[in-house]
Amino acid sequence: MGISREETIELLKQAYCMELETVMNYLANSVNLDGVRAEEIKKSLSADITEELGHATQLAQRIKQLGGLVPGSANVTLGQQKQPPADTTDVVYVIQAVIEAEQAACEHYQKIIRATDGADYVTQDLCIRLLASEEEHLIQFQGYLKEYQKTG
Ligand SMILES: [Fe+2]
Ligand SMILES: [Fe+2]
Repeated sequence: MGISREETIELLKQAYCMELETVMNYLANSVNLDGVRAEEIKKSLSADITEELGHATQLAQRIKQLGGLVPGSANVTLGQQKQPPADTTDVVYVIQAVIEAEQAACEHYQKIIRATDGADYVTQDLCIRLLASEEEHLIQFQGYLKEYQKTG
């Protein structure tokens, strides 16, 4: 019933690409940003890199378990997210970019959770746990935005 194994693998590969793009942009932003106001955001992004890489790893393992192949760099689709800004003091822009990326991740995991319902509980369970983690990031950065918009 419902979604096929191949369709599930495709959705997981998309999620895998999104996580890797997140790793790249959080890494760049955690290094690029300048200034006193950026310090907390840089620390927070640094901590998230490990988490997002962990998400990618769990997705890769599930892709393999389902009989799929984890894509290499030539088959990873990037460029969906806001890029690190040229103005390295634009902390608000970076926070907004993170919020956008986390929202996109939440939406994608919700899509997989719905698609796998009644068909693949292990993938569904994985995506519920990933959704919980992304929601935590989303709320954290929405909180930062409140504060930084006030002082920015
Ligand atoms: Fe993630
Ligand atoms: Fe995240």
